[in-house]
Amino acid sequence: MPALVQSKNAEGFEVVRTEGCRVFAADGRSAIDFQSGWCVGNLGWSRPEIERALRDFDGPAYVYPGHRYAPWEELAQALVEIVPPGLRRAFRATGGSEAVEIALQAAMLHTGRARFVTIEGCYHGNTLGPHSIGDNETRHLFPRLGLPAPRTIRPPLDEARLAQVETALKPRDVAAVILEPVICNLGALVPEPAFMRGIQDLCRRYGALLILDEVATGFGRTGRMFAAEHSGVQPDMLTIAKAITAGFAPMGATLTSSAIAESMLKVGAYSTYGWHPRSTAAALANLAWWRDNGEALLAHVGAMNRLFVTRVGTLGLGPVQGEGLALGVATGDEAQAERIKARCLKEGLIVAAEGDVVSLFPPLVIDEATAEEGLAILQRCAA
Ligand SMILES: Cc1ncc(COP(=O)(O)O)c(C=O)c1O
Repeated sequence: MPALVQSKNAEGFEVVRTEGCRVFAADGRSAIDFQSGWCVGNLGWSRPEIERALRDFDGPAYVYPGHRYAPWEELAQALVEIVPPGLRRAFRATGGSEAVEIALQAAMLHTGRARFVTIEGCYHGNTLGPHSIGDNETRHLFPRLGLPAPRTIRPPLDEARLAQVETALKPRDVAAVILEPVICNLGALVPEPAFMRGIQDLCRRYGALLILDEVATGFGRTGRMFAAEHSGVQPDMLTIAKAITAGFAPMGATLTSSAIAESMLKVGAYSTYGWHPRSTAAALANLAWWRDNGEALLAHVGAMNRLFVTRVGTLGLGPVQGEGLALGVATGDEAQAERIKARCLKEGLIVAAEGDVVSLFPPLVIDEATAEEGLAILQRCAA
């Protein structure tokens, strides 16, 4: 048995190289990547400008979290300038799970409450905090999680569901509602904007905070820099990771209001590898790329969305849902979704399958010819 522990369904695809929209394997195969490492490689893999910034990096090997480091301050300032208004402070994290951990702790400290409201079937990371509020099936594997079971809201996430949210918040014991503004982990399920705005109002009425988890949706995935922009809601906290470094280095961040940051500082803001200097250099180079090219890229995502939705809609698999290039098709059959994923990989296309949903998260920079090439493979494998 190999020493390395991997997921049960790990593929026998040994990656040796990545470039643009393609992943290359040790046995000479290559595949078009319609998964982007689950919303990591938004700019395509090995984006040359970021690679160059890292090659030229001549900063410190490491900075202790208790010391000052000017690029941290620069990055925090750059982030608060691009996220929804009201988020003025940034916490350093090593990835998405830690970013969510920080948000959960901050919500508990700020409100003095311990319960969360979540969307049924959600995923917010693999550490104990996110598991405590996550999907029922995983939560039940841990009999003694510290937090009270979350109150969950079952899709569809439309205006009518707000009554259920109000019932969940009325006891005034909820620290926060946490959700993805486009739920990548539920096949790119899109909550109605009225649902999102209604949640914000209800949170304010009942003293709960609103945490938007943009670990997957952040950095253009849904056609806006952050998916919160679709409904215009102003969260109390925002968690980001994944595409923040375009795949070059691990990083996460939790953005909060100034008041929430003060409450969290009772615990501290220590993370040994949070915002490693090389991760910080990659994130700053990523943000510089977005500053120069973001507007054009988001317009391109709109055009590619139309192409994908039209083409995938003709495959007869099921209705296509999502925003931008976060797309999902519920096939109604788990085995079929797995079969399509496996066939695609054999034919040179990486797609994701979760439950009965085939999810597509192609690089945002994908050109039409590569998109068509991948979609033709998907069509063959879905037949
Ligand atoms: C919405 C969401 N939140 C949190 C996480 C956890 O992020 P990480 O794997 O970087 O810990 C993920 C990972 O897939 C995610 O999709």
